[in-house]
Amino acid sequence: MNIQEPLQLLGGLSPQTFMRRYWEKKPLLIRQAIPGFQPILDRTELLDLAAMDDVESRLVVQAVPGREKAWRMRHGPLARKSLPPFKQRAWSVLVQGVDLHDERIHTLMNQFRFVPDARLDDLMISYATDGGGVGPHFDSYDVFLLQAHGRRRWRIGRQKDMSLVPDMPLKILANFEPEMEFVLEPGDMLYLPPRWAHDGIAEGECMTYSIGFRSPCKGEVAREVLQRLAEQAEDEAGDAIYRDPKQEALTHSAEVPQAMVDFAVDAMRAALRDPLALQRALGEYLSEPKPNVWFAGGAELPTGGVRLDRRTRMLYDAKHIFINGESFRAGGRDAQLIRTLADQRYLQAGDMARLSEDARDLVSDWCEAGWLYAEQ
Ligand code: SIN
Ligand code: CO
Repeated sequence: MNIQEPLQLLGGLSPQTFMRRYWEKKPLLIRQAIPGFQPILDRTELLDLAAMDDVESRLVVQAVPGREKAWRMRHGPLARKSLPPFKQRAWSVLVQGVDLHDERIHTLMNQFRFVPDARLDDLMISYATDGGGVGPHFDSYDVFLLQAHGRRRWRIGRQKDMSLVPDMPLKILANFEPEMEFVLEPGDMLYLPPRWAHDGIAEGECMTYSIGFRSPCKGEVAREVLQRLAEQAEDEAGDAIYRDPKQEALTHSAEVPQAMVDFAVDAMRAALRDPLALQRALGEYLSEPKPNVWFAGGAELPTGGVRLDRRTRMLYDAKHIFINGESFRAGGRDAQLIRTLADQRYLQAGDMARLSEDARDLVSDWCEAGWLYAEQ
């Protein structure tokens, strides 16, 4: 992708300008980001997905007559028969991770790869009947809201009062104060930075695609990285035994000796001695597939080019390649070629032929695992 080229998708801004001026800074409304956009999945196809076991979905029903503030939510799988009738107002089905199930949706999401893959999360599709939505709320991540079918009225604002309506099955802002309002038609798109409050209400039957981003919190990153480091800690720190020839006799028998604390600090340092261990653990964590993803196991290495399966997460850093939660050291021409595979998500036959035998063996294993397959 040429990051300096103006994109219709970004209202004529280049990805570079968009990132500098808007990303994480302010909302952007883009009329006709995708001119003539037609929904990729129709209502039946979407609701079929919502009924599947390995697809994350939710039903949100609003406005029980006479009880304006009542919201109901049910997690999927959502059998078609269990949904309200289409002529009933104000209900919505939200289907998460549609990019994992549909190649066309995956291709649409790839248009947003000017943002790092480590940040790109999924494409969610919502279907709503007239008046439907999930109520005024804020998200902790950035989102592009692409209108796919019908119209939706978005009200947005930099909410100061973040208090929520108590005892609701979903997070609804108690005192939403919108600052701006837009009606989105098919092909229009709204970018919202994290924590901007928003409320999207369907005007007639409506479908919205949300391209969502991953914003892990520090605590989660620490836990995930430390968990992976812990697995190797015993090998790294070694089996030296605690000894205390200088221990004095004492009366406060229950007190932890300072020498024991020093020993623990030393053990921790030893476990973290490998300067690349943290990068490796981070890459493995970031490239971990979604919990509901299973690879069926694939074929032998094809003779031509290869393409990553749409569910494969592949990343790299200066010293490693990460694929679906595993890490590999790579250098030289092999690293360069495998990075091309990660960036393009395919590698053409000519480049495949330039891989060393070891690297080909590795790619062959990935092929057998079903992580990539023959480029059509
Ligand atoms: C929706 O599509 O109904 C909700 C999307 C969002 O608010 O993030
Ligand atoms: Co939202």
